[in-house]
Amino acid sequence: MPEKSRATVDLRSDTVTRPSAEMRRVIAEAEVGDAVLGDDPTVAELERYAAELLGKESALFFPSGIMANQVAIMLHAPPGTEVVIDALGHILNYEEAAAPALAGVQLRSVVTTSGLLTAAEVAAAIRPTSPYLPRTSLLALENTHNAAGGRVLAIEEMRRVVEVAREHGLAVHLDGARLPNAAAAAGRPMAEWSVLADTVMVSLSKGLGAPVGSVLAGSAEAMERGWRLRRRLGGGMRQAGLLAAAGLYALQRNLERLAADHRRAATLAQAADRLPGLSAEAPQTNIVMIDLDDDAPATGAVLDRLEASGVRMTAFGARRIRAVTHLDVDDEGIARAIAALEKASC
Ligand SMILES: Cc1ncc(COP(=O)(O)O)c(C=O)c1O
Repeated sequence: MPEKSRATVDLRSDTVTRPSAEMRRVIAEAEVGDAVLGDDPTVAELERYAAELLGKESALFFPSGIMANQVAIMLHAPPGTEVVIDALGHILNYEEAAAPALAGVQLRSVVTTSGLLTAAEVAAAIRPTSPYLPRTSLLALENTHNAAGGRVLAIEEMRRVVEVAREHGLAVHLDGARLPNAAAAAGRPMAEWSVLADTVMVSLSKGLGAPVGSVLAGSAEAMERGWRLRRRLGGGMRQAGLLAAAGLYALQRNLERLAADHRRAATLAQAADRLPGLSAEAPQTNIVMIDLDDDAPATGAVLDRLEASGVRMTAFGARRIRAVTHLDVDDEGIARAIAALEKASC
C-alpha cells in the first residue's frame, strides 16, 4: 500500500494542513528582518499584497485570526458599547470571551433562521438611541460561516445588511477567516465583500495551507492604530518573514485550488446523505455537517470507529459531526472517509 493511503485522513479542520515541500523551500529562503522595527521585507510584501487583494489601503500580518478579530473590535467598538453578531458566530462562541474580557464590549447575539444575519435581523438588534441603553457600535459578520456549515454570505445580501448598519452609524467588521472559500464558491474576487466592511480578517492557515497567520485589512489610519493594538496584545513578531513567506505563497498559489476542496466536500456529503442513519445537506464550500439520526450509534462511538479506520472528524453538537476538506485530502482520502462512515454508522 503506498504511504499516502495509509496516512490518516484528517477532516477535523482545514487548519491541520502541513506545509508542502515547495512552501518549506520558500520559508527557508525568505528574506527577513526585525518586523517590529519595520525591517522585514517579506512581512511588508505580504501586507502590501493582501491589502491590494482585499481592496484596502493597508493590511497587518497577525499570528492568529482571533487576535486580528479582537484588534478589529478594539478599533471600532469603544468599551461599554455593543457589537451585533449572530448567535453562532466565531467571535461569540470560540474566542475565549475575548471581546468582553479584552475589548470591554458587550456582544448582542442574534439568533438567525439561516445561520446568516439578514438586514431585518440586524435592524431589529440595533439599539435605539437612549440614555438607558448601551450604544450599538459595530456589526460583526462572518463569511464563510463556520458553524452554519461553511455557508456563503452572498455579496448582495451583505450589501443589504451593511446598508442597515451604516444607516445607524455602525462600523462593520468581516471575519473572513474563510473568505477565500466564499470567493471560490461564488466565482467573485474577495475584494467585492471586503470593500463593504471597514475591516476584514482573512486566515492564511486554513484552506490556504500556511502554517500560521491571518491578515487584517482596512484603512491606513485604522491599520496604524491596529499596529499598536496588535503589539499591546503581544502580537509584534520579529523575523516574521519566515511565516509571512508561507502566507504570501498561500495567497498567490492556493486560492485557485479551493474549488477542488468544495467538490470533494460535495462528494462526501452526497455519499453520507445516502447512508442509513445519516443525513447531510449539500455544502456550499468545504465544511460538511453530518447529522446522526436517532437510530444511529452514539456520536462518540461513530467518531471512535472512524478513527479506528484512519479517518478523523469532529463532534459539532450532540448529534452532529463536522468534516472539513483541505489541500492534504485528495479524492482517495474522500473515498476512504466514505467507506469508513459506512462502517461506523451502522
Ligand atoms: C470563522 C473563524 N474565525 C476566526 C477563527 C480564528 O482563527 P485562529 O484559529 O487563527 O485564531 C476561526 C478558526 O477556526 C474561524 O473558523
